[in-house]
Amino acid sequence: MNYKIAVIPGDGIGPEIVAASVKVLDAVADKFDHTFDYTEVLAGGAAIDACDTPLPQETIDICKNSDAVLLGALGGPKWDNVPGDKRPEAGLLALRKSLGLYANLRPAILYEELMDSCPLKAEIIGDGLDIMVVRELTGGIYFGEKGRDGENAAWDIMKYSRPEVERIARTAFTIAMKRGKKVTNVDKANVLEVSRFWRSIVEEVAKDFPEVTLNHLYVDNAAMQLVINPKQFDVIVTGNLFGDILSDEASMLTGSIGMLPSASMSDGKFGMYEPIHGSAPDIANQNKANPIATIVSVAMMLRYSLDLNDEADAIEAAVKKTLAQGYRTGDIYSEGMTMVNTVEMGQKIIENL
Ligand SMILES: NC(=O)c1ccc[n+]([C@@H]2O[C@H](COP(=O)([O-])OP(=O)(O)OC[C@H]3O[C@@H](n4cnc5c(N)ncnc54)[C@H](O)[C@@H]3O)[C@@H](O)[C@H]2O)c1
Repeated sequence: MNYKIAVIPGDGIGPEIVAASVKVLDAVADKFDHTFDYTEVLAGGAAIDACDTPLPQETIDICKNSDAVLLGALGGPKWDNVPGDKRPEAGLLALRKSLGLYANLRPAILYEELMDSCPLKAEIIGDGLDIMVVRELTGGIYFGEKGRDGENAAWDIMKYSRPEVERIARTAFTIAMKRGKKVTNVDKANVLEVSRFWRSIVEEVAKDFPEVTLNHLYVDNAAMQLVINPKQFDVIVTGNLFGDILSDEASMLTGSIGMLPSASMSDGKFGMYEPIHGSAPDIANQNKANPIATIVSVAMMLRYSLDLNDEADAIEAAVKKTLAQGYRTGDIYSEGMTMVNTVEMGQKIIENL
């Protein structure tokens, strides 16, 4: 099959980790007889330098015309003094909004080979962790009405509409069907009206997925459960604010920012795939960055946007095998392992594919 992929290398380590990941995609294309047509576009600091805007219209148009988007990372100290609406981060927010990416999928996977990176005790994590946080990304308090009464008061409104809750709940249940068939809804329904509304709609959607078990947790309890009993979770679905906090908490259970992928999905199968980390300016252009977060983001892209499940499984298996062989970039290095650079890590994964 032939697929169109928009590629945004971005800033800092972005171009290095994206180059390594595109090589893995090329290897998948060879092995499984697909064609990936890449169109490279600008966003973030690179776009500010070239076009004086963090998000050129051409980038939006090409992304919309593609089957999926692969993004490295945006931003860096060079653009720290650029005015707010022209900053690289503003470009990223605008891109997510213009592509209608309302569901943020953040898997927190602790690989057996990297158990030492987890800050929790061995008896709590057992043989590893695999949690998927599904966060609503374009509604809730971050996008609600806001205001300020001078020095006296300020407010941000948390509001969710029925379609907004329905579609994110449906995303979570659909993903649970491909995993452990369990959804934990996280809200604050003991206090917030918006959460009681949210919960009732999640329960309605659950009726369409009788094979999936649904339970509810208040967000304060969920934050606690993630550290005392994280193995109870399969898919967590939650709103924008709670998801922002819980997805960071869950990802840090794996201890290694260079390992974790993410997907932001819109209606249908279109999505944007990127590592959760930033542009790591401290190690940019040194061939030191860990490309695994981006390479496993590519696996998510194959699974969720292109329906290529065997190909996604093959990439994940190759990553696991490479780790089991002892290859480590600096960020995940421990004594006795073999240190490799960005390019070498990509090559080892391709050899194992
Ligand atoms: N989605 C995005 O594009 C995104 C997300 C977060 C931050 N940022 C931007 O990135 C810039 C740097 O932000 P930061 O320093 O707070 O966070 P960061 O994630 O870039 O880096 C934090 C630390 O983790 C290390 N690190 C990150 N990714 C790594 C990798 N793949 N391999 C090895 N080490 C890695 C870095 O070297 C650094 O020490 C800022 O301009 C920020 O706004 C962008």
